[in-house]
Amino acid sequence: MRIKGEISLPGDKSISHRALMFASLTDGECVIHNISTGEDVESTRKCLAECGIQSVKSGNTVRIKGGVFSNPDKPLNCGNSGTTIRLLAGLLAGKRITAEFTGDDSLAKRPMSRIIDPLTEMGVVIESINGHIPFTIKPKELNGISFVPSVASAQVKSCIMLAGLGAIGQTVIDENVKTRDHSEIISKELGAPVSSNGTISINPLSRPLQPFEINVPGDPSSAAFFAAAAALIPNSSITIKNVLANPTRIGFFQVLKKMGGGVEWQNMRKECGESVGDVHVFWEPLNGIDITSELVPSVIDELPIIAVLATQADGPTTVSGAEELRVKECDRIRAVCENLLAMGGEVIEKKDGFIINQCNTLYNTNIKTYRDHRIAMSFTVAGLLTDARNTLDDEDCINISFPEFHKVLTQVMG
Ligand code: S3P
Repeated sequence: MRIKGEISLPGDKSISHRALMFASLTDGECVIHNISTGEDVESTRKCLAECGIQSVKSGNTVRIKGGVFSNPDKPLNCGNSGTTIRLLAGLLAGKRITAEFTGDDSLAKRPMSRIIDPLTEMGVVIESINGHIPFTIKPKELNGISFVPSVASAQVKSCIMLAGLGAIGQTVIDENVKTRDHSEIISKELGAPVSSNGTISINPLSRPLQPFEINVPGDPSSAAFFAAAAALIPNSSITIKNVLANPTRIGFFQVLKKMGGGVEWQNMRKECGESVGDVHVFWEPLNGIDITSELVPSVIDELPIIAVLATQADGPTTVSGAEELRVKECDRIRAVCENLLAMGGEVIEKKDGFIINQCNTLYNTNIKTYRDHRIAMSFTVAGLLTDARNTLDDEDCINISFPEFHKVLTQVMG
């Protein structure tokens, strides 16, 4: 068996969330093509509808009308989606909306004080239980703040940017480590009063944004699973067309190249301010590398599949400075180490990462997904290296980001 062919993927999850939220700030109908098909983005769409921002979905196209927000009459259920809850809290605070936020068991474990603290500093009144959901925002007038996030997080940055658009005075954000910059890019494209040159400055939005039409580029975090499969299985070669190539998001492909894998970007272009290209990935022998903290934000969602790649590399791969992985949809350091060990891998778990040694033979097993979509997809790909494939304790969690995953995987397995 080898991986081959040419595929295109549904739109990037991060850009899809932002396209919906920025559309809400316009005064007309926006059209979003190739929107992410996962449940997370549906959570954002449904929560916006609860706040009076209606949309209609037909295939992978959403038509959404911006305009007047209203207080939701029931708690906003953000499901499994950290991006929904964190960005929406900022957006709604800026719109002086009163809302209660809830979500699933995984979201209940994730830290919210990282947004509650700066929003409180801006003047939002927030009631929470120990910085977790459920929490309620009761906005007053918001003031601009100067903010240096204590964690490298695009969700936190974007929350404060969206709140800043509804504040009085200027908000300034200085990131210690640059994180994905889709909020800055879409702001610039739509003429929102945001500038970013290292420091991000946000001024209040004095009038609605112009309605827009956008074609969301393919999700590079979903592309990583097929690229990894091709890099793991000798004689494989795959082209993934129309992939988002924003420099803050292609860390996986840079890491794969550094590990010796075949990676070539072609047909580079710009769409709605974002870099897009076709990426050709082919099998080459892999070597181990060290991934340290400054690289982590650009591979934050891809570290589980990088761990799978590392099992087939000549020499150890180390990941450090990645403690954020412990507060994702599950504790991904734990889940990666536990499942690789169960497959017969040679792994050492660290507080802030892991060390993975070469392991020529992996065995199929029953994977504990912790209902985490990226763990489920990473270990489905890892199963391709075994005789009988892995089974997952939960297949459905893949729908969180990528319901088409199995269909596309079957398509590329020759
Ligand atoms: C995201 C940012 C990242 C990432 C998540 C999506 C976003 O989270 O893990 O899947 O769209 O802003 P953090 O910013 O909290 O690291």
